[in-house]
Amino acid sequence: METIENQVIPMPRIGDKAPEFKAVTTQGPINFPADFSGSWVILFSHPADFTPVCTSEFMTFASQEEKFAKANCKLVGLSVDGLYSHIAWLRTIKEKIEYKGMKDVEVKFPLIEDITMEVAHKYGMIQPGESNTKAVRAVFFIDPKGIIRAMIYYPLSLGRNFDELYRALVAMQTADAFSIATPADWQPGDDVIVPTAGSCGVAKERMENKKDMKCYDWFFCTKPISKEQVLSTILKK
Ligand code: BEZ
Repeated sequence: METIENQVIPMPRIGDKAPEFKAVTTQGPINFPADFSGSWVILFSHPADFTPVCTSEFMTFASQEEKFAKANCKLVGLSVDGLYSHIAWLRTIKEKIEYKGMKDVEVKFPLIEDITMEVAHKYGMIQPGESNTKAVRAVFFIDPKGIIRAMIYYPLSLGRNFDELYRALVAMQTADAFSIATPADWQPGDDVIVPTAGSCGVAKERMENKKDMKCYDWFFCTKPISKEQVLSTILKK
């Protein structure tokens, strides 16, 4: 729970409907999450424009925007800065910053202005132990039906790993498409986890009649799904 002016705001949770809001962005007004219905969307916050960690993150995420789009996922950024700060910062990134081989990087996804912190509070992005005046580095994965499927919060000093965000997105889409779960460090092409057998009878049958399954014990079975199967299912043609 978060409180502002004696108002208790519940923190969003996995499985909740994404809190709704209307906002001004660098790409025009948005009505969230309705405008993104039918797509996955990653809503992410950063502490402040014109800061180094955030700049490295924006350049990295913008460079990968097409890869996320192919997996039916749109990106939406947010900070508690104003629109003109956002525009000036993104222009500076495009015109001046060359970093790790990335240059002339144009951020084409919307960046929300949230000077009132209304959206940041709704999404639990203001965490006073870290900062009262800046959003932490939050990441919300919202599915095509507008449901929060995963969230990750990082402190101000820690830049995010965008390969991990992509891995998590693909893993959730694969779990949905094949009714499986994914083990630690899963990547497309690795074996996936078959849902746990509901009873000893099913488990015994499963152990005896493994087909392509590998069972480490009655509660832990995996099966292969090829990388091609995964990618041809989840990526746009
Ligand atoms: C940064 O992005 O570099 C940053 C922003 C706020 C606090 C600390 C670091």
